[in-house]
Amino acid sequence: MKTMILVEPGSTENLKMTEVSVPQIKADEVLIKVKSISINPVDAKTRLGGGVYKYGGVSKQSALVLGWDISGVVTESKSGLFNVGDEVFGMVNFPGVGNAYAEYVAAPADHLALKPADISHDEAAAATLAALTALQVFTDAGVKKGDRVLIHAASGGVGHYAVQLAKHLGAYVIGTSSAANRDFVLSLGADEHIDYQNQSLADATKDIDFAFDCVGSNSVIQSLPVLKNGGKVTTIVGQISEEVNEKLKSENIQGKLLLVHSSGTDMKFLAQLIADGKLKSHVSKTFSFDQMAEAHAQIESGRTVGKIVVTL
Ligand SMILES: NC(=O)c1ccc[n+]([C@@H]2O[C@H](COP(=O)([O-])OP(=O)(O)OC[C@H]3O[C@@H](n4cnc5c(N)ncnc54)[C@H](OP(=O)(O)O)[C@@H]3O)[C@@H](O)[C@H]2O)c1
Repeated sequence: MKTMILVEPGSTENLKMTEVSVPQIKADEVLIKVKSISINPVDAKTRLGGGVYKYGGVSKQSALVLGWDISGVVTESKSGLFNVGDEVFGMVNFPGVGNAYAEYVAAPADHLALKPADISHDEAAAATLAALTALQVFTDAGVKKGDRVLIHAASGGVGHYAVQLAKHLGAYVIGTSSAANRDFVLSLGADEHIDYQNQSLADATKDIDFAFDCVGSNSVIQSLPVLKNGGKVTTIVGQISEEVNEKLKSENIQGKLLLVHSSGTDMKFLAQLIADGKLKSHVSKTFSFDQMAEAHAQIESGRTVGKIVVTL
């Protein structure tokens, strides 16, 4: 089968298409013929030797196969959860080695859910790592009806699912992006938009119960003045420094970093929302398997709208 191997950390030139044997599945795994793979910033970060390179034995792999997000068809099953012929999607073995840049992927069945019948494999592959992150962040923070939720980078992969999920939870949603993506963010259901390039956050909003940082750098600290006493902020990009933590504590704000993890239970929850028409993937661009380097360049641009997907 064709698989895209990272020969060593570095540029996209280190991604090489290779022929390898179809993987053998273990107990409780299924073999999936991959139809679509979604690409995330962590793919590029890991390719460069960062990201999850240090987790789950990733760096111990001699020829690392990147990627975690897939949608496809079960061709072999050693699990009671899925049968041959089932269409499934999920984020495989994150954080760890997903081996998803391949024509066939061996996946723990309990990282997957049945793909909703009415959506394409591209849309399903998209709604994995990014959508799981938004779901796990809101669940962890206990976001509820009536909360005022601020989402930094509401137009990106995670952000575009986060807006829809926060609205589903009954929150009042304020999303940030550049002016170019204003209409997109509002079309997802956001109640308000803030153009981070031309508006000051502190002037544009206040009384936030929960801030979701999908940007990193200064977004946690910038959120401080707009958060309510007793509010919460979760970042998914980088550690919160001791200094910032002290500031948060002094203002009675809870701050944390969250790392997404594979979960079939959460995938089933997302699948149901998708089937009910309450959550949609916006796939802004697709690439062929041979165009993986271009897909990495796009995700590294930091300008991706919604999700990008590689179609096999
Ligand atoms: N900890 C975890 O488990 C976890 C999980 C998923 C993702 N992440 C990390 O979270 C980050 C976001 O992931 P993603 O998939 O959503 O990335 P993405 O799709 O590449 O995000 C791109 C979007 O970010 C917006 N953006 C860029 N700078 C911004 C800023 N300063 N303020 C507001 N919006 C801004 C861009 O909009 P404009 O072009 O309009 O600026 C663009 O639409 C990445 O660093 C990723 O590695 C972490």
